[in-house]
Amino acid sequence: MSERESKRKTLVGAIHPDVLAFTVGQDPRLDLDLVEWDCLGSAAHVTMLSRMRITPVLFLPEECEAVIRELVAIMRLGRDGAFAITAEDQDVHLAVERHLTERLGDLGRRIHTGRSRNDQVAVDLRLHARDNLLGVFEESTALADALLALARRHLRVPMVGRTHLQPAMPSSVGLWASGYAEGLLDDLLVVESAYAYADRCPLGSAAGYGVPLPLDRKLTARLLAFSAPHHNVFHASNTRGKCEAVILGALLQLMLTASRLAEDLILFTMPEFGYFTLPPEFCTGSSIMPQKYNPDVLELIRAKTARVLGHHSAACAIVKALPGGYNRDLQETKEIYMDGMAVTRATLRMLRMMIDGLRVHPDRLRGAFTPGVFATDRALELVAGGMPFREAYSQVRNNLGALADADPDAALAAKQHLGGTAGLDLSGLAARSAAIRREARRRRRASHAAFGRLLKVNYPALTPATE
Ligand code: ARG
Repeated sequence: MSERESKRKTLVGAIHPDVLAFTVGQDPRLDLDLVEWDCLGSAAHVTMLSRMRITPVLFLPEECEAVIRELVAIMRLGRDGAFAITAEDQDVHLAVERHLTERLGDLGRRIHTGRSRNDQVAVDLRLHARDNLLGVFEESTALADALLALARRHLRVPMVGRTHLQPAMPSSVGLWASGYAEGLLDDLLVVESAYAYADRCPLGSAAGYGVPLPLDRKLTARLLAFSAPHHNVFHASNTRGKCEAVILGALLQLMLTASRLAEDLILFTMPEFGYFTLPPEFCTGSSIMPQKYNPDVLELIRAKTARVLGHHSAACAIVKALPGGYNRDLQETKEIYMDGMAVTRATLRMLRMMIDGLRVHPDRLRGAFTPGVFATDRALELVAGGMPFREAYSQVRNNLGALADADPDAALAAKQHLGGTAGLDLSGLAARSAAIRREARRRRRASHAAFGRLLKVNYPALTPATE
């Protein structure tokens, strides 16, 4: 092989093919999910350049429009799976630039003025994150609503409350299911701050140190419906990887809740418990044992939670002690971020199906009550009659048999304080969930309207703008 043949020509120099393959990694595949966002980022950048007051102007208004029309064409190709990113392109950014140059010549060659792939990839991932996190809000609240509906249907069906997995106190299906619903809503507080973290525009930071051009960074942020640009350009560049770690940390909270719910369902659908059954079409069979209906979905959710936890640790480990400014290490945060997002969203959707289809068996739930479950309630009854708690405790402990005919329904009705079995405000939780979903939809509409104005088409349809 001649010296010439052993190198691959790229937009940014000739590179040994093995080095190209190693450094490009999974980008040509992963970046297919960024085509939409890369084109939007480029549309905002070229619009801003065309309004920059310098002579000669970089893009005349009609030149800007021609570039944007071509970017919309690339978005359509991307959605149809017809936009290719080659190893020589390295990533979506250079693939889009190559395409624009092939179609528009000099206009394509000017598009990279005043930016770097570093701020480009950062803005692409922010737009990807915003869109996906809005999906997370919608899917988490849909799961919370499914749990609240289950709680409402079986509000006072008695269920043994457990600590250490041992029978502990009287509880109810309503308390159990709405407890996980509230858990998801609280996790969304963390997701909300991850959203706020992602909702800042890194564009204009270029390689991380700005450029000697009068860039209007507030304009690009506004065109893309970001809450604001990052202020310090060096900091903007340093948020790559960090933002991914913040998002993975937030998604992890949802996964931890999902995983505990999955574990409860695995246990309580075991024939030995029989509290619930999963619809057979949500279970998988065995290749050898004809009788089997296995909860594989729930088991995979446990394992996928470990995977998201690993991704979060990996993202933190990659940014830890990374020198300030861009380093190629950061490219490795892309795959784990995207995988964590996809896995979390799939988990939320699967669990919602499981909860919607869950069958509840009140007889089995009631049948699981042992006398001991009522012991604490009984001790507190004695306390109400004036006995010191420790004395009541001993007396009940020595007479557990006397609790044999205790009534689970009465036990549930007796806990009327806030959030107890007879004090649940399911409507309050449902209202919280609805407010979160409304806000996610409002944000999505606002982004779509901004994207439509920027691209001069109806967004997301990409059809010609209606007058
Ligand atoms: N694919 C690269 C990444 O994800 C784009 C940025 C490349 N920047 C650079 N200075 N080599 O990080």
